[in-house]
Amino acid sequence: MLRKSFLFILLLQFSFSFGQLGSEATNGDVSFNSGWLFQKGDPSGAEKSTFKDADWHKLNLPHDWAIEGPFDKKYNARTGGLPVHGTAWYRKHFTIDKKYAAQQIAILFDGVMNNSKVYINGTYIGERPFGYMGFELDLTPYITFGEENVIAVRVAPEDLASRWYSGAGIYRNTYLKINNPVHIPLWGTYITTPKVSDEKATVKIETTIKNADGKKVSVTLETKIIDGLNNVVASSSQKIGLEKSSEKVVIDEIVVNNPNRWGIENPYLYDVVTQVKKGNIILDEYSSTLGIRSIYFDAKKGFLLNEKPVEFNGVCMHHDLGPLGGAVNYRATERQMQIMQSMGVNALRTSHNPPSPEMLQICDKLGIVVLDEAFDEWKIPKVINGYNKYFDEWHERDLRDMIKRDRNHPSVIMWSIGNEIIEQREKDGWKVAKMLNDICHDEDHTRPTTAGFNNYGGAFKNKLAYQIDIVGLNYKPFDYAATVKDNPDMILYGSETSSQTSSRGTYALPITHDHKKETLEVSSYDVTVGPPWAYPPDVEFDVQAENPTFLGEFMWTGFDYLGEPTPYGGRDNSTDGYWNADWPVHASYFAPVDLCGFPKDRYYLYQSQWTTEPMVHVLPHWNWEGKEGEEIPVFAYTNCDEVELIVNGKSLGKKIKGVDTTDIPAEFRGFEKGMYTSKYRLSWNVPYQPGSLRVIGYKDGKAVAEKIINTAKKASKIRLTADRTEITADGKDLSFIEVDITDADGNLIPNADNQVQFTIEGAGILAAVGNGNPASLESFQDTKIKAFNGKCLFVVKSTEAAGNITVSATSNGLESSKIIVKTK
Ligand code: GAL
Repeated sequence: MLRKSFLFILLLQFSFSFGQLGSEATNGDVSFNSGWLFQKGDPSGAEKSTFKDADWHKLNLPHDWAIEGPFDKKYNARTGGLPVHGTAWYRKHFTIDKKYAAQQIAILFDGVMNNSKVYINGTYIGERPFGYMGFELDLTPYITFGEENVIAVRVAPEDLASRWYSGAGIYRNTYLKINNPVHIPLWGTYITTPKVSDEKATVKIETTIKNADGKKVSVTLETKIIDGLNNVVASSSQKIGLEKSSEKVVIDEIVVNNPNRWGIENPYLYDVVTQVKKGNIILDEYSSTLGIRSIYFDAKKGFLLNEKPVEFNGVCMHHDLGPLGGAVNYRATERQMQIMQSMGVNALRTSHNPPSPEMLQICDKLGIVVLDEAFDEWKIPKVINGYNKYFDEWHERDLRDMIKRDRNHPSVIMWSIGNEIIEQREKDGWKVAKMLNDICHDEDHTRPTTAGFNNYGGAFKNKLAYQIDIVGLNYKPFDYAATVKDNPDMILYGSETSSQTSSRGTYALPITHDHKKETLEVSSYDVTVGPPWAYPPDVEFDVQAENPTFLGEFMWTGFDYLGEPTPYGGRDNSTDGYWNADWPVHASYFAPVDLCGFPKDRYYLYQSQWTTEPMVHVLPHWNWEGKEGEEIPVFAYTNCDEVELIVNGKSLGKKIKGVDTTDIPAEFRGFEKGMYTSKYRLSWNVPYQPGSLRVIGYKDGKAVAEKIINTAKKASKIRLTADRTEITADGKDLSFIEVDITDADGNLIPNADNQVQFTIEGAGILAAVGNGNPASLESFQDTKIKAFNGKCLFVVKSTEAAGNITVSATSNGLESSKIIVKTK
């Protein structure tokens, strides 16, 4: 039953004005990640308690079997050239003390990729085809207390089921939940702030209480709002009577005076702690994160966060963690978003599926607003074994669960019901859109819905675009103005933009629009046309400026990801539609940051547009042996007013950003596909002589930023730089060690491909290696890898023992290097 209010229907027409929300943490749940047994294949009887599993592989979750490889041409390059399909089983033996015999026992999976079926002591208890949604199963009737129980999970992802790397296995966290029969169930609080001002905020809390007992009960529900300094800033208490075997939703409104508002600059979080009490005994305690903020969307004013306009400097991201694969890791996710934030990102589109719970916790904490997306497919397939197979039976449950799970996060500001859905082209596609839209509003009346459209003709003509609140346009910068003109009351933004491609540190001369098939690399001058729909970032910067009512953009993509190796690869009919045409490419080239998290030049182009802390960047490298005397195009990116270029100590003068014309031939300039405009890039043609390139950025006439690139001499050393030299000894935390091949003076050797061998001693283990080259078939799980354009990455994970981790790196002919990471 839909509960859409009349007031809300009125609001929907042109704008949204709602309060803030918080996120969820479930107290008292214990991690259920350790001590699992794993076996690939589908042995009969693997669900039974008595099944012989003593020789199975022991592991801790989260686990993604596909990242272990090997890469193989027989696997689809579109999904990473890794084994993301197949059947495997996970089993765990566990005992629950008899003292819990009167309690409710459940298992919570944050996500299993995919087609999971779960058994306890041989009995089937549930399944979930969709790999991106978490689910809980009640174990209470099946547990033998005080004796061994066995939970068994069959996981069976199919080939041709995804357009990107999905990973495979129980790839998110798992919890065992032990609850009193009277408790707050999963996703049991819904927190909104219907009224927010600087003076006070009204926090509305809808709490579900469940009584799983056979007799009626009366309890007290106590709710406290706690600030960052652990002070209780507001509270309430109510007496509640519950019938036997029943659930009740209790509504409470609490006022917080002088609220510290959540926002991009100040992501301030409160805790909401809810206790269910019987007398003085606490039966259950449940904690939710609260961020007090208001959001408002308007066709003229754009997006207002706490009454102030915010333009989305957004990125789309897939969920994989590059060399670490699909298995969720808090630190790796946090690092991704910190790198994005340093580029100026303030918004994330979780393309094209619900993210991990950790991603939303991180966005809450960092102050990044999120467009939470549900689907890439409805009923009509994009890939034959995709979500279309499950849509009819599962879409409602998956979508409702996503919203219930995520609706307390202050970072989440919109629900996306789909990406480039094929139903756009269908006459009746709007009916499905309406149904999904209504589900979103039924579960959450505080946020608008959206979708990303690429087929405007279809989406507008068939009315699909009119079923949702805010319309996302994918890759149509030249149509923005006309769309605004034709739909003056529509709220619009660029849901997917640019899709420029490049390889970190690769520069093809002379600069060209084409990528070179022989090299399997794409030039970082960023004028290359990748796929036919792609265009450089500059074009989007221009159209956003020319269409100020647009909410901003979500660039494709923040990080390179595994799979979809465009512009290489494509349909290869000899392999039955597998995308292996340009094997061995198996990862994307789209992002301004490579698979390892190393910035490409494009990162600085975005930074020059999206940040204000003075910066200047110069490209290419300055090692052009054999090209002495030839003119090399030099580009500078800055957020300063002007840039001075100094070559080998001699100034070539200053150029003013957005004013001075570029030296680059006109065929690469302009406002078209494959072009860039000199508004955003300064450029010179510089006759090459070895030495140095130095750029100085000036603001109000003062030198405020500088960068130097020297011609590197002979490769001589390895430099190791850890993102953190002290990490937590929890068996999960990571240190990302950046590896540079340098000359004796520490200058990066720009094309070095030396193989580096690593050893680890002490309190750590290998997590992954990588080099950011989408065509490298080297394993991510080895202790050696070749540098790509001078760099590679070594990721080390703590154990649960505190101590020192010593990582050493050696390579033939180079001075070796060592770094120590402390764990505590
Ligand atoms: C879009 C699509 C994305 C990705 C991108 C590559 O059309 O929505 O998932 O495939 O193209 O440019």
